[in-house]
Amino acid sequence: MELIIATKEEINKLVSEEIIELINKNNHCILGLATGSTPIGVYDLLVKAYNDKRVSFKDVTSFNLDEYVGLEETHNQSYRYFMNSHLFDHVDINIDNTHIPSNKDDSNNYKIYDEKIKNAGGIDIQLLGIGSNGHIAFNEPGTPFNTKTHIVSLKESTINDNARFFSSKDEVPKEAISMGLESIMNAKRVVLIAYGKNKQEAIYKMMALEPSEDLPASILQNHPNVTIYCDEEASELLVNNLK
Ligand code: GLP
Repeated sequence: MELIIATKEEINKLVSEEIIELINKNNHCILGLATGSTPIGVYDLLVKAYNDKRVSFKDVTSFNLDEYVGLEETHNQSYRYFMNSHLFDHVDINIDNTHIPSNKDDSNNYKIYDEKIKNAGGIDIQLLGIGSNGHIAFNEPGTPFNTKTHIVSLKESTINDNARFFSSKDEVPKEAISMGLESIMNAKRVVLIAYGKNKQEAIYKMMALEPSEDLPASILQNHPNVTIYCDEEASELLVNNLK
């Protein structure tokens, strides 16, 4: 795993430029996208690059990592709403080519999500954040490494972390649909971003300890092409332990 410690501004620039370069080389590329507060700066720079005519998303396909169970797409905390408002509504991507796992309307599209990704050619670059308990997407501690897209019961720590986005903790859904750890490992390249002190323990365990299902993100140690971008706060515990 490659580790890059930099400021938020530098990281947003590096990651967005990598995505722009990928699209400009292969305009039919497949992006694996993430939600949460972490990737917002990257999406802002992608929108800016589109407005500056440096990139077009016309032929790009995207697959998002996860979605809450039970929230309408129009709910301002649904991940569909997040993606539309932070990226899709502001660029020329064909909305039919943007995928978010769902169990809505009996379509249960999550059951064939991995197959859909495979049929599209596989994810070229998967963007990831990390939960303070080491989850990636919504794969909570204890998730078997070989899981595909599945329904998840959210841990108390994740509900607490995400309560800041809702008017009360009771409104946070208790379940989500998430790409599995195996689904994520199938991406050709993985870029994980972590900001802030709240992530430092997860980053330390992910990079310094043996891979374990107790810390889902540690599976990335087994992936051949991963870059971890951290700000100083998120990398503090790791760096102190390396000294
Ligand atoms: C949620 C998402 C994850 C995300 C995590 C961290 O649990 N399912 O994909 O990585 O939150 O969120 P944030 O970036 O806001 O810290």
